[in-house]
Amino acid sequence: MTQASTSAKTLTIDIGGSGVKVMVLDAMGQPLTERSRVDTPNPPTQEAVIDAIAQLVSGQGDFDRVSVGFPGVVRDGVIETAANLHPSWLQFDLATALTSQWNKPVRVVNDADMQGLGAVAGKGLELVITLGTGFGSALFLHGKLVPNLEAGHHMFRKGETYEQQLGRAALEQVGDKKWNTRLQKAIASLEHLFNYDYLYIGGGEAKKINFDLPPNAKIVPNITGLLGGIALWRE
Ligand code: BGC
Repeated sequence: MTQASTSAKTLTIDIGGSGVKVMVLDAMGQPLTERSRVDTPNPPTQEAVIDAIAQLVSGQGDFDRVSVGFPGVVRDGVIETAANLHPSWLQFDLATALTSQWNKPVRVVNDADMQGLGAVAGKGLELVITLGTGFGSALFLHGKLVPNLEAGHHMFRKGETYEQQLGRAALEQVGDKKWNTRLQKAIASLEHLFNYDYLYIGGGEAKKINFDLPPNAKIVPNITGLLGGIALWRE
């Protein structure tokens, strides 16, 4: 590591459909500040969300660089989809907007990709899914990310996608029991599709899982979504 990166403080931001979370990490990826969170503004326009981020960040002290997990397809810092936010995000250059706000380097990736970077072991084929407002997914081969997987918007069952069957709206509509049954079926379906070595399950609703996971699957804490921010700066 270079001299600069051994002391760099990384501000990490997790933009979600229901909450926006921030914290500052040290060069090893350990938290330096308490995680701070606000509800995602409604409507979640890019302007309102960026204002909310600015307020949260003002309470976090200083930092040298910024990592952002965004709930949609992100290419070179530009937002291409935002299924659970607002159309004002489409084609918005979030990386450039935040760079000019703080005058620090900013890297933006998909939220499930960032969560996955904080979760995977770096061996074999690893799949990450996140259960929150939406259904996030991330795929890694020997620790290398295949970006913007977006399995959530693919057909799962009964003419509905994984996200339509397992997103928060579905959970609230059908209740924990049915949602758990669906999730078991989803895991079986994803295992057949990807033949992964290991599955990680994150997101705020992972705590609702009430069945025994297969031996090649485990739940990762929701904070992983922020901790993954350090990996965007690995040399
Ligand atoms: C988005 C994904 C995102 C997931 C979880 C989906 O609706 O399309 O990009 O990772 O929600 O936030």
